[in-house]
Amino acid sequence: MQISITKTTNPAAKPAPDTLGFGKIFTDHMFLMDWTEGEGWHDARIVPFGPLSIHPASTVLHYGSEIFEGLKAYRRADGQVQLFRPIENIRRMNNSAQRMCLPQIPEDMALEALTEFVKVEQEWTPSAPGTSLYLRPFMFGNDESLGVHAVHNATYVLIASPVGSYYKEGINPVKIMIETEDVRAVRGGTGEAKCGGNYAASNRAGKRAEEKGYSQVLWLDGVHRKYIEEVGAMNVMFKIKGEIVTPALSGSILPGITRKSIIEVLKDKGYTVSERLLSIDELTAAMADGTLEEAWGCGTAAVVSPIGELAYEGRQYPVNGGEIGPVTQMLYDTLTGIQWGKTPDPYGWTVQL
Ligand code: PLP
Ligand code: COI
Repeated sequence: MQISITKTTNPAAKPAPDTLGFGKIFTDHMFLMDWTEGEGWHDARIVPFGPLSIHPASTVLHYGSEIFEGLKAYRRADGQVQLFRPIENIRRMNNSAQRMCLPQIPEDMALEALTEFVKVEQEWTPSAPGTSLYLRPFMFGNDESLGVHAVHNATYVLIASPVGSYYKEGINPVKIMIETEDVRAVRGGTGEAKCGGNYAASNRAGKRAEEKGYSQVLWLDGVHRKYIEEVGAMNVMFKIKGEIVTPALSGSILPGITRKSIIEVLKDKGYTVSERLLSIDELTAAMADGTLEEAWGCGTAAVVSPIGELAYEGRQYPVNGGEIGPVTQMLYDTLTGIQWGKTPDPYGWTVQL
């Protein structure tokens, strides 16, 4: 692929690590390419970061034709920059595109876009503990017409943001509220696609939870309102009587790459992992009789995030005394060890630039 590069004449100063937070600061450049039905992907370019100009009738503004991904570049102790399982994000984006009738991107083209862009921006990869360069590829339908149909024009963009921790709590336990009014997704809908609309529709419940002092909501399935699904931006796992339980990928849950990686690590270490239905009744019973030993969320942005309290129908259930548990800590250490190149990567998950 031919990528034209136009460097900024006005590079920004790199931020201090303690000012990072999540997704508020952006690097100097962005990658774009366009797709039309006749021409396919073309005009790949890295240009100075700045506003996009969009036609007011563009599909994305009216009908929500948008998908995205999230992955990170990590600074190793030896100064090298590496990505974590980028091919998994590329494949998931193509699955999301398929669901939303957006164009596929050939895997080698998507990987080249990512690596060439990160090479240009690699100085922005911070090195302080717990920091990384968050990469946000996204694609939107960009027909300049109000008809509702599969698009004939699309744009792919890649932006990057140096980040610290996603939650203000960092690795400290978060409080999660089990949502009983709104639902996030149903089978056959868009729950397993990473599309912007899923997040827009979840904001009302998220706002209610935040007002009550919770970080995010835990969704129940949309049909029975009975089975645990996932958290706002994370998959979820529980340790109940020694068994590690995570909801099976039913079609309405995002197939997380962190989830998949953790399952592999756990199985390697000899844990029993069950991907199955977990009902709210089973969970509340385990919370009430103390057999819920640990609970955590997992995702790229949040990494592994211990859950210190779950609330359901007005009742609060502390988990592991509100402390991070040993399995949660082990998973955090193992995963971040591989991601930051502090420990060997026996799985071949990391890709150095
Ligand atoms: N579930 C939702 C709804 C998410 O937004 C995310 C974040 O990407 C995840 C789960 C975790 O996925 P991953 O581990 O691939 O980041
Ligand atoms: C991620 O973990 O990459 C996510 O996409 C979470 C995000 C919606 C902030």
